[in-house]
Amino acid sequence: MSQQKKLEGKVAIITGGANGIGKATACVFADHGARMVVIADIQDELGEQVAASIGQNCRYFHCDVTDEEQVKGLVEWTVRNSGQLDIMFSNAGIVRSKKSNSSSVQNVLDLDMAGFDHVFAVNVRGMAACVKHAARAMVEQRVRGSIICTASVAASTGGDTDTDYPMSKHAVVGLVRSASLQLGVHGIRVNSVSPFVVETALWHHTTGTQAELPRVVCNPDTRLKGVVLNAKHVADAVLFLASQDSEVVTGHDLVVDGGCLLK
Ligand SMILES: NC(=O)c1ccc[n+]([C@@H]2O[C@H](COP(=O)([O-])OP(=O)(O)OC[C@H]3O[C@@H](n4cnc5c(N)ncnc54)[C@H](O)[C@@H]3O)[C@@H](O)[C@H]2O)c1
Repeated sequence: MSQQKKLEGKVAIITGGANGIGKATACVFADHGARMVVIADIQDELGEQVAASIGQNCRYFHCDVTDEEQVKGLVEWTVRNSGQLDIMFSNAGIVRSKKSNSSSVQNVLDLDMAGFDHVFAVNVRGMAACVKHAARAMVEQRVRGSIICTASVAASTGGDTDTDYPMSKHAVVGLVRSASLQLGVHGIRVNSVSPFVVETALWHHTTGTQAELPRVVCNPDTRLKGVVLNAKHVADAVLFLASQDSEVVTGHDLVVDGGCLLK
């Protein structure tokens, strides 16, 4: 029996879609009948490859989310080419800035402010610009859309070592709560997903080897016997928030952690 398609005819943007959680979500959206999935990223070669591997209903668009003009251009291009925007998955994020002088951790005692600013430019400012321009397009076209942001379990805990990353993810939840209150009147839903550790390039590339990370951060095992958290688990949660299955869910932060935050 064929799987029920949950996004038939929908147009979606996924920032940070060239890799990791964004890439897994692009595949799930396409499998669920999305008419167009736009992958927005700064890794052009990878993004083009991923879009080509997904098929004709997936396109790549270069967009650095730290530049509001590029975010505006991304949304305008999508609407111009596909007629409308139904889903924004604002997912692009970094755990540590390559601009930071501090090569290891962002302990509050040694906080590198240039690194701090870059993490905030991507994870907070970039996220806000994506929500703003997606919502504007949806309001203008009277689309009852769904906006999903990627927060993290770090949005509800303090960081043992890093300071700016958990701060930035707390801010994402504040953005989601405020935007959901303001956009409900237009029928637009705004939610977030908060994954626990998923082995993606984010952890490997920005922190060096995995062995440098604290054990609690490295271990993607969940409290559910035999389950190791992966990007597809997060993508399935995003699908739920993007589809009509979550018709009355807004302002919610959906934790995807296999129970790791419990205690
Ligand atoms: N991997 C985890 O364990 C984990 C846990 C909790 C939350 N998250 C969050 O999930 C999201 C996705 O992370 P991931 O693990 O898939 O990492 P990833 O590194 O595999 O993917 C992130 C993508 O974002 C892109 N990106 C980075 N800066 C950008 C910018 N300025 N503009 C546009 N794109 C940009 C990267 O090129 C990359 O393709 C992030 O917001 C991250 O904070 C990840």
